[in-house]
Amino acid sequence: MGIQFDARTQTFTLQTIHTTYQMRVDERGRLLHMYYGRKIGRGDLRELYPPADHGFSPDYYPCRLRRGVSPDVLPQEYTGCNVGDFRLSCLVVRDPDGAAGADFLYESHEITPGKYTLDGLPCAHDEGAEAETLCIRMKDPVTGLCLELLYGVFAEQDVITRAVRLKNAGAAPLRLEKAASACLDLPFGNWDLVHFHGRHAMERKMERAPLPAAITTVSSTRGASSHHHNPFVILCDHDATEDHGLCYGVMLVYSGSHRTDMEVDQNGLTRVVSGLHDERFSWQLEPGESFTAPEVLLCCSAGGLGDLSRHYHKFLRRNICRSPFRYTRRPVLINNWEATYFDFNTDTICRIAEKAASLGVEMMVLDDGWFGKRNDDNAGLGDWYVNEEKLPGGLRPLIERVNALGMKFGLWVEPEMVSEDSDLYRAHPDWALTLPGRSPAMGRNQLVLDLSRPEVVDYLVERLSALLAENHIEYIKWDMNRNMSDVYSRALPPERQGEVAHRYMLGVYRLLDRLTTAFPHVLFEGCAGGGGRFDAGMLCYFPQIWCSDNTDAIERLTIQHGTSFGYPVSAMGAHVSACPNHQTGRTVPLWTRAVVAMSGTFGYELDLGRLTDEECGQVRQQIKTFQRYYDVIQNGDYYRLRDPDRQPRYVAWQTVTEGESLVSLVLTHPEANARPLHLCLKGLEEDALYKVDELRVYGTTETPESGDKPDSQVGAVCSGSMLMYAGYILPHMIGDAPSLQLHLTRLP
Ligand code: DGJ
Repeated sequence: MGIQFDARTQTFTLQTIHTTYQMRVDERGRLLHMYYGRKIGRGDLRELYPPADHGFSPDYYPCRLRRGVSPDVLPQEYTGCNVGDFRLSCLVVRDPDGAAGADFLYESHEITPGKYTLDGLPCAHDEGAEAETLCIRMKDPVTGLCLELLYGVFAEQDVITRAVRLKNAGAAPLRLEKAASACLDLPFGNWDLVHFHGRHAMERKMERAPLPAAITTVSSTRGASSHHHNPFVILCDHDATEDHGLCYGVMLVYSGSHRTDMEVDQNGLTRVVSGLHDERFSWQLEPGESFTAPEVLLCCSAGGLGDLSRHYHKFLRRNICRSPFRYTRRPVLINNWEATYFDFNTDTICRIAEKAASLGVEMMVLDDGWFGKRNDDNAGLGDWYVNEEKLPGGLRPLIERVNALGMKFGLWVEPEMVSEDSDLYRAHPDWALTLPGRSPAMGRNQLVLDLSRPEVVDYLVERLSALLAENHIEYIKWDMNRNMSDVYSRALPPERQGEVAHRYMLGVYRLLDRLTTAFPHVLFEGCAGGGGRFDAGMLCYFPQIWCSDNTDAIERLTIQHGTSFGYPVSAMGAHVSACPNHQTGRTVPLWTRAVVAMSGTFGYELDLGRLTDEECGQVRQQIKTFQRYYDVIQNGDYYRLRDPDRQPRYVAWQTVTEGESLVSLVLTHPEANARPLHLCLKGLEEDALYKVDELRVYGTTETPESGDKPDSQVGAVCSGSMLMYAGYILPHMIGDAPSLQLHLTRLP
C-alpha cells in the first residue's frame, strides 16, 4: 500500500486498499497516465498502449518518421498546452510574445509521509500517519514554467487527492489563462455521468446519462460553487447500481467558479478535466511567483454508487472537516426566519425561545434582520451593529434571556455582502465589486464586497471577532445571497483583473480560517441562499451547511437524496417548517417533516406558538426520538434504498452502525389497491440476528393515533440475510405523505 516508484520502468504506483493508480515517465520524459481502477497486481501496463498512428493526431517531433506516438492519443497525467493534444487541456499559458505553449518534462519526485498542504486553499488533512504524499516535478524547458503534481494517498479511505502548483522559474512574466487541478484519462470503458444540478430552492438533483462522444461540462461561472451545478461528478459503468459496478468520483475542494469537462474522444478514451473555471480567468506569474490550483478528491469503488458515497461521507467528515464539532452531537435548534422574517423584537424572539425550550429545543438562532437598518432585504448589509430599535440594549439582554432558558444562542451573518443603503458602503463604495462606468447588476438589491482586498478581509475579521468576543454566541449561520457579477477590483492593476474571482475566494478562505481558528467553540453553519455553496471547500470550515431554502419535506427528499451522493448526513442542514409550506404551499404531516429533517442536522424553523397542544406533544417526541437515534443517524453508514425519481411511490433510506439500524420511509404517492410496501434492507450482517424494536407509523389516515406501534411486527427477530435478500413488508399506509421509522437492534 502507499506510493511506490520503480526506477527501472520509471513507474509510480499508488495503492489504496481497493484501488491502484499508476503513472509512468515515458522515454521522452512525459508523464503518462497508465491506470486508475480496481486494485491490480504486477504486470506491465505499457502493453495497453501500443504505438498507434491515427490520422490527424500529430507525433512528437523525434517520432515524426516512426509515427504512432502522439500526445493526442496517449493518456496524459496533466496535459501541456498547444503541443499536439487536441483533447481537453489542463493549461493555457502565454509568454510575453503572445505564444501559448508548454510541454512538461519530468525532472524529479519526492515521496514523503503525511499529507501536503496548500497555501491559502482548503484541502484534506491527515488525521495521524494515514497519508503519504507524492510530488512529481516537471518543467517546460522553453518558458521555465515548473509544474508540481501533488498526490495525497489515503490508503485506508480509498481516496487519492490531487493538486497542482505552477511556478514561473523562467526570466519572463507568464500569463495563465487556464490552470486545471487534475486530468483523469480513462482509456477504456463507456461511462454514465452522474451529476447534481438544480437552481435556488431545488439544489443537487441527481441526473444520470451516458456520456456522449462529445464534451460535457458541469460548471459555474457565478463566483460560487452554486445551486446550479455541484462541483462533484461521478462516472460509472452503464450498469452500475447502488450496490454494484465501477464508479469514479471527482470532487473539487473549491467554493468559487468551477468547471469539470468530460470528453469522449475519437478513440473512445474518456478524459475528465476538473478545476477553476477559466472564463474571464487569468493569472499573472512574474518570475519566481507561484500559483496553486485547488484540490480534487478522487475515489474509485467497484461496489456501486452507494459504496462510493460512503467513502466520501467518511472522508469528508474525517479528513476535510476540521471543526471540533464534526463528530459531536450538535444542538437541536430553532431558527426564527420562517417564523418572523424581518418582523421581530426581543420579546418576539424570547417568546419563540421560551416555547422551544419547553419542548426540548436546545438552541435559539436569530436569523437575518438584527443589525443596521435591516427591516427588509434592501438595506443594512455591512453594518454589523445591533439594531437597537428591534433589540433594545443590544444582543446581550436577549442572549441572557435565551441562556436563562437553558438554551444556547446562535446568530445569522452575511459578511461577504454590502447594501448600497449601508454605512459601510457610504464609507467605502470602492469596497464593492463593480465595473467602472456601469451600473452593477443587483442581486437581492445587494453588492458583493471585494474580498480580494486584504483590508476588507481584515475589517470583517475585526468586526465579527468583536461581535463574537462581546457576546455569548455559540453558533454562526454564514449566509451569502447573491452571485458575483461586475467582477472588477479597484485595488488591482488592469493585467490582474482576471485574478479577482479567485482572489475573492482566497479572501473568503482566509477570513474563515482566521475566525474559525480564533473561535473554535463556535459551531459554524454555511449557507448561500440555501445550498448555493454546498461543497468540500466550505466543509473544511463549516461542519454543516444549510441544504436548501426549500423546506418542503417532499421536495427535500429529492434534494437530500442528491446531496447524499457526495456529502454526509452530518453536513446537511435540515429543519421542520410550517405548513402550508412557505415555498410550495404543500401540507405534510408534522411527523413526516421531522422524519426528513432528522436525516440532516435537525432543527425547527416555524412559529411553535401556533402549534396545537397535540402538535407540541409531537415536537417533544420528535426531539426525544432524534436524540435516541442520534448515533445511528449521524454516525451510521448511509444507504439509499429507493430513488425518488425512478421509484416514486415511496422513498426510503437507512443508516447502519455495528449495533443498530434505522430505516426511514416516506410514502409520496399513495395508491389504491396497492401492493404492500416492501424494502430490501442493506448493510446488515448476513448471519446476525436483528430485532425489530421500534416501528412507528406517522400520518397515515389508517392509523389514527400517529406514533403508535403496529404491535404485531414489533419484537420480531430476523436474520440480516432475510432482511436484505428476502426483504421486509412494512405496514400499509395511505394519506398525504405518511412516513415511518423502523429501528432494528442487532442481537449479541
Ligand atoms: C437565505 C437563507 O438560506 C435563509 O435561510 C435565510 O437565512 C435568509 N437568507 C435570510 O435572509
